[in-house]
Parts: sequence; C-alpha cells; structure tokens
Amino acid sequence: MSFTLAKRRRNEPAFYDYHPEPSRFREDVLSGLTGKQRQIPPKYFYDERGSRLFDAICQLPEYYPTRTEIKLLERYGAEMAQCMGEGSILVEFGSGSSLKIRLLLDALQPAAYLPIDISRKHLLNAARRLSHDYPMVAVHAICADYTCPLALPTCFISGAKTGFFPGSSIGNFEPLEALQFLKQVAALLGRGSGLLIGVDLKKEIALLNAAYNDSQGITAAFSLNLLQRINRELEADFDLSAFEHRAFYNTIKGRVEMHLVSCRRQIVTVSNQRFEFQAEETLHIENSYKYSIEEFQQLAKVAGFKPQRVWIDKESLFSVHYLYL
Ligand code: AVI
Repeated sequence: MSFTLAKRRRNEPAFYDYHPEPSRFREDVLSGLTGKQRQIPPKYFYDERGSRLFDAICQLPEYYPTRTEIKLLERYGAEMAQCMGEGSILVEFGSGSSLKIRLLLDALQPAAYLPIDISRKHLLNAARRLSHDYPMVAVHAICADYTCPLALPTCFISGAKTGFFPGSSIGNFEPLEALQFLKQVAALLGRGSGLLIGVDLKKEIALLNAAYNDSQGITAAFSLNLLQRINRELEADFDLSAFEHRAFYNTIKGRVEMHLVSCRRQIVTVSNQRFEFQAEETLHIENSYKYSIEEFQQLAKVAGFKPQRVWIDKESLFSVHYLYL
C-alpha cells in the first residue's frame, strides 16, 4: 500500500495519507434508488450538518448508548487499561474527534496512538489537539477508510497492539460485514493484540424505539438531512415535507431500522433520472443491529478473537468487550 507521510514538526502528530477512494455517493444513491426496496448506505448521513445532528443525538435523553458507554469507560477505564497493557500501540478505527479515547489515555499511557479516519480535516484537527494535551503520547494519524483492508505504517507492523472501536458502530454493519470487519481488524492487529469494542445490547423494544424516535425530532432531522444532501450534491428535487422519518425495532432481524416514508405518490428526479415513489413506500436508510453478550462473543470468536472481559451497566443497556487475539 502506498501512502504519503507529511513532514513532522515538533509537537505535531505524524500524518500518513493513504488517499482513501473518493466517495461513490452518486453511484450508490442511483443504484440504491433503483432496487425494489430502495436504500441508501448510512455512511452518507455524515456531511457537516449530519455530523452536527449526530452529535446532538448523542446528547438526547432518549439516546442512551453514548452516555452509557462513556460512563462505562469512566468507571472501568483502569480495568480496561489493565487488560490492554501499558505502553501499547493504540489503534482507533473511525476516530472522529478522538473524544472517547481521552477517557482511557491517562490510565493506559500508550507508547503511541494511531487514529484512523477518512475525514482528513477532522482527523488532523483532533490529532493536533490530542498531541497538545498528551505530549507524552506519540500521535500518528492515518487518513484512510477503516472499513477497507489496510496495513499500518511499517514501524508499527510488528508487536502487539490494542484496537479501539467504540460507539457500537459495529451495529451499523450487516452481520456478515461485521464479521468481515472483525477479521480485517484481527489481521491488522496481529497475534497477542487486543480489541476494546463498544456494542449496544438487545433490550426492551420501547427503549429502542424511543432512542431512534426522539421527542425533539433530532433523529428525524438527521434522516431528512440525507435527502437535503442528495438535493444539494446530486441535482435532485426531493420534497422534504413529503417524506417522514420512521424507525422501529425489527425483532426477527434484531435491529432498529430507519426509513424515510413517502407521504404520497410522487416523482423525484436525481441526476436527471426519475424515480416514482408510491404512497407509504419507504427508503431504507439505516440498520442498527443489537447483540446479546453471547451473540457478539460468538461473532468475535468466528473472527478469531477470544472474548476476555465484558463490562455492562446496571440496566444492561450497553456493553464494552475486551477481545484478545
Ligand atoms: C453511529 N451509530 C452507531 C448510530 C446508531 O445508533 O446506530 C447512528 C444513529 N442513527 C440514529 N441514531 C443514531
């Protein structure tokens, strides 16, 4: 794999640009609108406004995952750090603003921190802030799509590492994709390494439905923002008032599904192509899989990990697993 390494100034993070493939937004939207069940991959939620709305979701009283995971990291950070081992090489997948890792850094004291993220601007800003706040930690930021197979910079290939994948982002993969992703992570980290991963748990349906249908309508705005993004970036004419957010827990599949429902029969044009929606027809925009502890451990085992520890809150809302290779 070829990458460019930006020159490093004092107190600056090292920066490796793997030049991730440009997004296939247009192709993915046009092909997703063509199938029988229309669908758009959830990764396209996160334009600038979408990312801000997601941050707002994380603060909602109904959206328990973020605050519960943070409480677990605060409360059990020392135990987690003990599993991970001092002086390790810490690799975070989809590091975003690198906020959660801060809860572990004091206890963990890693030799180096390698955040991987596709958004160059956010990655660099977060890496600079972290380097400044934790001068003892060598920060090596990697701009890459963490869902694709990748190799670490050569100086980090050998030796045990610890992966960090919080937020239950694993739940937004289809189970087979989740397995594939865990296998990729295992290959990247190598024998003797570990992975600390946040996984949302199966629970009472009413709690799940409320978490994705908040009373302030922020999740609805987050869903509809996808149509706004398509209008703006793909010369489309979605009428935002003619689609409604609908989220529900699908018990059989073990996932919360998010859809945008067409309120009437209508024709939408995207990039000069016309798509007819019937009244009540839906555009499937996200799945958020929920796992029991055993289900997730089973998945991890198939990917080659040995489940070692799991921390859950008193209400059994959320889990943080430590897996070993
Ligand atoms: C990012 N991901 C883990 C969130 C979830 O809960 O599946 C995305 C989200 N969608 C609506 N609310 C939050």
